[in-house]
Amino acid sequence: MSCGIVAYVGPRKALPVIFDTLKRLEYRGYDSAGVALLVGKEIFLAKQKGKIKDLEERLKDEDIPSKMGIGHTRWATHGRPSDFNAHPHLDCSGKIAVVHNGIIENYNELREELKAKGHNFRSETDTEVIPHLLEEYYQGDPLQALQKAVSRLQGSYAVAAIFAGVDKVFFARKDSPLIIGVGEGENFLASDIPAVLPYTKKVIVLEDGDTGFISESEYVIFQGDKRIERKIMEVPWDQQAAERGGFEHFMIKEILEQDQSIRDTLRQRLHEDGDIDLSEELAPLADKLPNLRRLFIVACGTAYYAGMAGKYFIESILGIPVEIDIASEFRYRAVPIMEGDWLILVSQSGETADTLAALRDMKQKGVPTIGIVNAVGSSIARESDVTLYTRAGPEICVASTKAYTAQVTVFYLLGLYLAKVLKGMDVRPYGQELLTIPHKVSQVLAKREEVEKMAEELYKERDFFFIGRGMDWGVALEGALKLKEISYLRAEAFAAGELKHGPLALIYDGVPVVAVVTQEALRDKMISNIEEVWARGARVIGVLREGDPLQESLAMSFTIPNTIDYFTSPLAVIPLQMLAYYISRKLGREIDQPRNLAKSVTVE
Ligand code: AGP
Repeated sequence: MSCGIVAYVGPRKALPVIFDTLKRLEYRGYDSAGVALLVGKEIFLAKQKGKIKDLEERLKDEDIPSKMGIGHTRWATHGRPSDFNAHPHLDCSGKIAVVHNGIIENYNELREELKAKGHNFRSETDTEVIPHLLEEYYQGDPLQALQKAVSRLQGSYAVAAIFAGVDKVFFARKDSPLIIGVGEGENFLASDIPAVLPYTKKVIVLEDGDTGFISESEYVIFQGDKRIERKIMEVPWDQQAAERGGFEHFMIKEILEQDQSIRDTLRQRLHEDGDIDLSEELAPLADKLPNLRRLFIVACGTAYYAGMAGKYFIESILGIPVEIDIASEFRYRAVPIMEGDWLILVSQSGETADTLAALRDMKQKGVPTIGIVNAVGSSIARESDVTLYTRAGPEICVASTKAYTAQVTVFYLLGLYLAKVLKGMDVRPYGQELLTIPHKVSQVLAKREEVEKMAEELYKERDFFFIGRGMDWGVALEGALKLKEISYLRAEAFAAGELKHGPLALIYDGVPVVAVVTQEALRDKMISNIEEVWARGARVIGVLREGDPLQESLAMSFTIPNTIDYFTSPLAVIPLQMLAYYISRKLGREIDQPRNLAKSVTVE
């Protein structure tokens, strides 16, 4: 998903430029790398699992006389990290090489169609259908072949392709980023701006449906069969800022990616008609599915709070008990394991020591395990019987944001799929509502100035309380964790019904209390809890549904688009992520690297 692709054509030796530009995309994460170079009438190809520097080492004595080529770093989504799954991929003749970033959703049927025409495939990737389609359609005009090939693709792609004997690099873009770096007598393609900055600050951000080519002396862009011009942007950023996409911090960049990361996580698993299909990913456990009786969800920190959403949702939709525990406790309590127990591990990094240990303990007891993981090829992903990847892309900020909403999204998919296969439920109405969530997320993201204004009012406070009921309790806990871990302010969350059992004593005049009120079924109860804190002088900030009359009477409130109670969590959490971000920014905090914390806690 978040692979990096680059291309170069110009007077320089291509190989060193390709390695240098690829390395500037390393922060996007990768598990394999590859290059393809035009050498006269032939294509030179070198690719392997592992780091870019390993490939560079392997080629260091090769003096390849090429001034044009493509390169790729892969963060696997289809097919495990391996030499043969690494890009570039070739057609049967070896005269066409392709690198790709994105997900081809209809690759299975294309693969079958091409195999029936005699094409032989060498990898497990979805990408490999592209060079073989090009081979099918190439009759001397590479661009025409590429335009025809991509018209067959469903899904997302940023593609760069070279054809033996043709001194141009061809490109196509839809839903995955791709830019042209415009140099002096040389041109570049890259997935992201940082790759080309040392060579040029002039970039063209390509749009969906753009196809074309770069050569040493020009670049040509088409929309459909019409040639168009796109304006050249002079990039004001330095390298560091460029890796943050020009944002001040990775945190805000990653918060604002959540419509896309949820869309990517749903892709191919949730169909246009609302149907859900996880059969391929869950295949290793298919025979054990009928005897599933109880689920354990085990994780740490934010991943645990995502697990809370999973618990409430799956118990309600599927009707089986779901136990949830933080990994550091789960490992040391005497958990009675019964026939039909399954374990779900949730982890962005896939390396958290306590979560990994819980996985190993339970695997030894023969419990089927599912990993919900973001980092492809990580320990938890490798050792779980099945991995349902979140496709949030690399999450650089220590404070987890887009991984959380992607994890919750995977729980929605898993719960609905289990209800479909185990209870024969027609899940399409739920799936159709789930399809609207990415757009609803982008509507919430568009209102970030409202939260920034709230932060202006609140950043001098020293205590914050968060309350919620049902799935909103998990959101409140996540909101409190976000605020405390980057602002260093005291932020505590309670199940709203618990206030009168003690925490109410903490409420003093003017203290901010964030009330998450999105569960229609529990709204009346929440109103009485709000009145409890109001009566003690609290300043109540509401996270409400659009149109909730409560908005009129609260000190401040943020509203989210309406959806069913189950699906509000990825919407309601965003104003809390932003509140933590803008308060911490006002306080001048480090934000991306908070004190005392690490992105992945690989020690117990
Ligand atoms: C969340 O913002 C924190 N960075 C932390 O709680 C994190 O969620 C926890 O350490 C779990 O990490 P994992 O998802 O990589 O396992």
